[in-house]
Amino acid sequence: MVLAAPMAQAAAKKAAPVKPIPALVQKDGKFALMVDGAPFLILGGQANNSSNYPAALKDVWPAIKDLNANTLVMPVAWEQVEPVEGTFDFSFVDALIKEARQNNVRLVILWFGTWKNTGPSYTPSWVKGDNKRFPRLTNKDGTLSYALSPLYETTREADKRAYVKLIEHIKAIDSGQRTVIMLQPQNEVGVYGAARDHSAKANAIMAQPVPEALLRKFNKPAGNWNEVFGKDADEFFHAWSIASYVDNIAAAGKAVYPLPTYMNAALKDPLNPEQAPGSYASGGPTYNVIDVYKAAAPHIDLLAPDLYSPGSQSYEATLNFYARKDNALFVAESGNRPTYARFIFSTLGRQGIGFDPFGFDYTGYSNFPLGSTQSGPEMVKPFGDLYELFRPLERVWPKLSLESQVWGVSEPDDHSAQTLDLGPNWNAKVTYRQWQFGMPEWDPENKNGYPEGSEIPSGGVAVAKLSDNEFLVAGYHARISFGAGSANAAKGFILDRVEEGHYDAKGNWVFERVWNGDQTDYGLNFAQPRLFKVRLATFEK
Ligand code: DGJ
Repeated sequence: MVLAAPMAQAAAKKAAPVKPIPALVQKDGKFALMVDGAPFLILGGQANNSSNYPAALKDVWPAIKDLNANTLVMPVAWEQVEPVEGTFDFSFVDALIKEARQNNVRLVILWFGTWKNTGPSYTPSWVKGDNKRFPRLTNKDGTLSYALSPLYETTREADKRAYVKLIEHIKAIDSGQRTVIMLQPQNEVGVYGAARDHSAKANAIMAQPVPEALLRKFNKPAGNWNEVFGKDADEFFHAWSIASYVDNIAAAGKAVYPLPTYMNAALKDPLNPEQAPGSYASGGPTYNVIDVYKAAAPHIDLLAPDLYSPGSQSYEATLNFYARKDNALFVAESGNRPTYARFIFSTLGRQGIGFDPFGFDYTGYSNFPLGSTQSGPEMVKPFGDLYELFRPLERVWPKLSLESQVWGVSEPDDHSAQTLDLGPNWNAKVTYRQWQFGMPEWDPENKNGYPEGSEIPSGGVAVAKLSDNEFLVAGYHARISFGAGSANAAKGFILDRVEEGHYDAKGNWVFERVWNGDQTDYGLNFAQPRLFKVRLATFEK
């Protein structure tokens, strides 16, 4: 009897269920990242580039905490794990995983290898200085580029060996807890200043037949690269070459421990299709070569944009390009200026699996003008306020996104109104710069101006369908006004019940109060980030 309790405990411990490995699942063109067997929304924060050392971590965790992030996105560099060829050091990975667990966050690990912002700066010295073994590509004018060529097995095999060692290490220390949930092999691949490698070796491959898989994808007859792809041939060739190279590395990693993988893109201007490759990172997974990547890289689960475009039109256009039936939307990076925070709403509205703005630590660094002028808590707050709203939904929202329907809009730069088509029965209008009561026309000359701080766009609304007539609504600095859709046009519209509340740790809705009267007569006004459950109804006229 005396031994029974400890024995039972030991048995229970032994029987603890194995947590399934994270996976990206797809259902009818909708996606979810499964973590511990259930959908998980990445509310991420990416650390600055040089925060990947144990000594820097103490300045990372407080920012991640203020951000209310559930995931830290952190680089691990080839130069740091294999400074001497064949000798590996994973002490940073050990510290990172241990401290992530202590801080109760998950990790996405970025492999800075052959490519980091297209260059080899993170390869070890024995790689970046040895052009013979690890050749750089040749520019069109015959000069040597700064970037490594994707056409050499020597380079690929050396990178792959280090990457696979990293994955073996992660598997060894993390397959019980699954702290690491996703991997990004390489960072912003491609090349500036050229469309492709113009070496004799590259020219010879260009003159050979285009691979079958690519012909099939584009439904093209056989031929060499110029014959098949004409003016796109150079860029498509480089994209194919890099995608195949990275896929080969990702496949080797997955054979060891099959975590989801993604590649991030330094963007091509989504509003300027004429922009020439090389003025943007040619060969990277820009929107115009997503199909090339899909054909070349089956071991890459998704392609993800790095969003530093300040205009809302451009930001939204890029989101549209990457949210596809064959590509889950993940904002791999976004600027950390306050105005970027609101784009979480339009990311969620496109069934995004996560949002990961860049530059979140307190190491005192700021990448303005791409990101914020600030590097302390003021920089974090606009994002932290919205993550505070969504963090309790980290399991609820992605389940609805996978299984039901979601919508989301962010405030446009010109503050114009948006309409949500919620199906035949209902719709909603979202407006910005509104006071919490009444209508703008009551103050026709706008004598009282707009609410303080509203000149800088910061608002947005995300809506998820709970049942035919019931919606979950999260918003900030916006007004949402529901109405009858075309199927209910002949009927009277009623905002039947508006509950403010939150979700508890088990994912159960906790009712706080009913909003009615002044609080709902002029739409639901989000002066602060808030969460509602809204029930809509009609009456016969
Ligand atoms: C995009 C890169 O992927 C990041 O690592 C970083 O260099 C930013 N650009 C700029 O801060």
